Amino acid sequence: MERSLTMELVRVTEAAALSSARWMGRGKKEEADDAATTAMRNVFDTIPMKGTVVIGEGEMDEAPMLYIGEKLGTGEGPSVDVAVDPLEGTNIVASGGGNALAVIAIADAGNLLHAPDMYMQKIAVGPQAAGKIDINASIADNIKAVAQAKGKDVEDVVVTVLDRERHAQVIRDIRDAGARIKFIQDGDVAGIINTAFEETGVDLYIGTGGAPEGVISAVALKCLGGEQQAKLAPQNDEQLARCKKMGIDDISRVLHMEDLVAGDDAIFAATGVTDGELLKGVHYHGENARTQSLVMRAKSGTVRFVDGTHNVKKKPNFVMKP
Ligand code: FBP
Repeated sequence: MERSLTMELVRVTEAAALSSARWMGRGKKEEADDAATTAMRNVFDTIPMKGTVVIGEGEMDEAPMLYIGEKLGTGEGPSVDVAVDPLEGTNIVASGGGNALAVIAIADAGNLLHAPDMYMQKIAVGPQAAGKIDINASIADNIKAVAQAKGKDVEDVVVTVLDRERHAQVIRDIRDAGARIKFIQDGDVAGIINTAFEETGVDLYIGTGGAPEGVISAVALKCLGGEQQAKLAPQNDEQLARCKKMGIDDISRVLHMEDLVAGDDAIFAATGVTDGELLKGVHYHGENARTQSLVMRAKSGTVRFVDGTHNVKKKPNFVMKP
């Protein structure tokens, strides 16, 4: 993949964030998602690559754009798998919460797991604890291993958990182990990435969220030297059949980093839509709008934070008004 693609992809996530942030707190998650998707789709046409969407807004018959199988880019350049989540945290934006992101992950063609739209059980850590977690071990053992790897007491370990009924046992186990919990209402991509940044104060992510999001967060952790392990969690026979169709006959099979994103290269880009622990959201100041993005490449290990100031008048298509 071309190195220059990293900065090109930031333009795509910036466009999605600039448009969807206009919907913050308006109680309209579909509109916020549509704004992000449309803006992202428009900018993709200018990116020099032969991209195919493997994780997107749905199947061709249910999504007007960024559907699975859709070709993206100018048709010149490397052949890549593209995973998009134009608005990761639709409810967050609708309710004016924190940590919503516009996100893209790409890898050489054939290297991203074509994760179906179902749940996935995940455990994830940043680089200091990579190699120490085991999704099949108890929560207490994982917490102990992370505490040891990070040189802290178990009582000081913070685990991020999506605030859901289905996590009642996970929550009990974390508390019984003596660790602390940071609950998030939505947005486990940010929840997982945050484990790799000391300043966010979180050490470990445990829980079940979207499988497509699980592939995207694995790309981010690959760039950061962290680790995620996962298992698909089909909820009915139809989803079970989809797992089998993609070659996963045994749903207890652990998906390791290489299963989620194969090869040594991948690129991840995210722009904050609403303010979060790691990235500021879009702020509008008169003619200008400010964005903050994170862009990283697995091969080089380079991690960049990119601050942008965008003249809204000069880019009317980028910052669509509701
Ligand atoms: P959307 O942006 O598609 O609404 O997803 C938000 C999210 O919180 C993901 O980050 C997470 O993986 C998933 O939803 C959790 O699903 P559920 O809300 O069904 O628990």
